[in-house]
Amino acid sequence: MQRLARQWQRAGTLVALVPTMGYLHRGHLSLIQKARKLAGPKGRVVVSNFVNPTQFGPNEDLAKYPRDLKRDKKVCAEGEADAMFVPAAADMYPSDFSTWVVEEKLAQGLESASRPIHFRGVTTVVTKLFHIVQPAVAVFGAKDFQQSAIVRRMVRDLNFPVNIVVAPTVREQDGLAMSSRNNYLSPAQRLQATVLWRAVQMARKRAAQGRVAAPKLEQELRRLIAMEPEARPDYIAFFDPETLRSALEVKKGTHLAMAVFVGKTRLIDNATL
Ligand code: PAJ
Repeated sequence: MQRLARQWQRAGTLVALVPTMGYLHRGHLSLIQKARKLAGPKGRVVVSNFVNPTQFGPNEDLAKYPRDLKRDKKVCAEGEADAMFVPAAADMYPSDFSTWVVEEKLAQGLESASRPIHFRGVTTVVTKLFHIVQPAVAVFGAKDFQQSAIVRRMVRDLNFPVNIVVAPTVREQDGLAMSSRNNYLSPAQRLQATVLWRAVQMARKRAAQGRVAAPKLEQELRRLIAMEPEARPDYIAFFDPETLRSALEVKKGTHLAMAVFVGKTRLIDNATL
């Protein structure tokens, strides 16, 4: 891949990268289509497909993370990507690997409370992918809001010559944000999982009516989520979308992010209110 990327660089070809962990769905497809538009007909769109071990905690789903290269190829073709980059873990991480890229502010709190090493793995692998593929533009999804904020900050702080574009969350008809992890849900859990989207809508309604104390609205959302027998919130947070600093009061423009376990599956969602 690196050799091909160098050829493209020398030829002045515009390269757009979509980093993924595979098991591609319509959410990923929307990013690929966005990258295609950004790269133009003469540019090159690369989809990286790598289940990055360093962003999984010891008790997380690395081993059972779904993989299906055949299906991924189809989605890449549908999005008119030019190449799928599928590195081997041993190539990405030699046994004596010892260098990390760490963002220290935005990677505090939210996802990190439950997943303390997650973003160190993300920023490190994204840096490696940028160096290998040398894209002029990379497309990320708003579904992982904290991740996109951290990547933007890293790119700014370390002067990476890449433009970060964030594309909106793609949802199922009933509002559930598309995710490879939705696959783990039983039919009954799948129905209960819509409670994340219902919580977003409830919060939007409350914010549209005026200011409301964050702890009060959090309680209301917790009560809503508790009505689903297998749903258990990990966190519900209200914050400023730029700084990610938590908000005491919720109003229009405040950002909501949450992680909710449905059975053993941990789902995330977020939205501007
Ligand atoms: P993955 O979970 O495969 O997601 C790849 C990209 O797709 C991310 O930018 C994510 O935000 C976006 N995405 C996922 N579901 C989406 C949806 N429903 N709508 C729109 N975009 C969606 O995020 C990762 O992989 C990894 O952390 C990675 C950045 C590849 C680093 O390993």
